[in-house]
Amino acid sequence: MPGTLAVINCSQLVTLAGAKRPRTGGDLRQLSIIEDGALFIRGDRIEVADRRREVERLITDDCEVIDAGRRVVMPGFVDAHTHPVFAGLRANEFEQRSSGATYREIAARGGGIRSTVRATRNSSLNDLVKASKRYTDWFLRCGTTTVEAKSGYGLTIEDELKILRAIKQLAQETKLNYVPTFLGAHDIPSEYRSRRATYINLIINEMLPRVAEEKLAEYCDVFCETDVFTTDETWQILSAARCHGLGLRLHADQLTLSGGAKLAAELNAATADHLEHTDATGIAALKAANVQPVLLPGSVYALGSHQYPAAREMIEAGLAVVLATDFNPGSSPTPSIPMILSLACTQMKMTPAEALTAATINAAYSLGRGDEIGSLEKGKRADFVIHDCEDYRELAYFFGVEHPQAVYVHGTQVFRREE
Ligand code: NIG
Ligand code: FE
Repeated sequence: MPGTLAVINCSQLVTLAGAKRPRTGGDLRQLSIIEDGALFIRGDRIEVADRRREVERLITDDCEVIDAGRRVVMPGFVDAHTHPVFAGLRANEFEQRSSGATYREIAARGGGIRSTVRATRNSSLNDLVKASKRYTDWFLRCGTTTVEAKSGYGLTIEDELKILRAIKQLAQETKLNYVPTFLGAHDIPSEYRSRRATYINLIINEMLPRVAEEKLAEYCDVFCETDVFTTDETWQILSAARCHGLGLRLHADQLTLSGGAKLAAELNAATADHLEHTDATGIAALKAANVQPVLLPGSVYALGSHQYPAAREMIEAGLAVVLATDFNPGSSPTPSIPMILSLACTQMKMTPAEALTAATINAAYSLGRGDEIGSLEKGKRADFVIHDCEDYRELAYFFGVEHPQAVYVHGTQVFRREE
């Protein structure tokens, strides 16, 4: 019989319980908070999320009891867009941008994604895993218990497979949950600049079949952008990915209005990500096709831009908005969802409740895991966090702070702040 665990004395048990679907409109603000709530967990599953007295009745001698000390307890964050496996850093480019260079200028002179590709190709699988474990630890300490993880810094068959295998190894060797995405179409590698069609054929005819055969990814993503992959090329790659049974995600309209959102709708993708330049037509197309927007304000902030995506318009249009970090060495070097919550509230005028929903249950649905994680409800996996605050709004209000006091994955403690 698996062991039992009770978590009592929560100032707010933020359950996010509700209809079994991604939240839209006014439902984004419904956090289903239980004041003085408690959890009862058996093995890795939540059995009861209710008032303290209902849980206390279940406590037997062999039950482990955690006193949350009148803190907020809520689901672990689900970060639905990250690039966490790479070698080297780009602090030099960060410095150049601080002196006025732009992301696109740096990329045009061979820096940007291509500089990380060079370093990643020169790195072994073991070195990549080792480097990425540092980031795994950061995610957990910030209260994230599941990340979607993209490849995309290899851009050869062997190097893309190496990154996806590193993600698989990280999933096995660490406590964080990973959802792998193949992003072989993150950039046209230098050696194919004059033969882009050849690289696209390589992705379609050689990379995708290997990735699918070895079951190394659940999703396929493409960086659809002016100067990167056109909408036609993106369509070809994602259509092929769908034939291999992969779900679809797109980097869309990040730097220019290049038609990515409309294409995501045509392809019935799971998500369209970034959307800084998406207009009303694009928003309407996403709505008609039920595509979830994944908003990444960390990259807007870190690139020193002011063009945040139109979150309010998207919410008003009825879209099931998701927030994520876009953790990567170039445009968004943060693993912190609380930092993203802060940006969402201050820069995009989402309320703290909307932002929390976007980074938990809506993110879980965008990864096809809405029935497993993202809320604290009977039968779901016990991935939860005790945050060192009394009111959930503090998570977005205090910024630059590591809020978690303790983090649990599969009902097991994986991080605890030293007292
Ligand atoms: O989501 N836009 C493309 N990919 C990443 C940036 C990757 C990088 O700069 O290394 C993004 O912002
Ligand atoms: Fe990204």
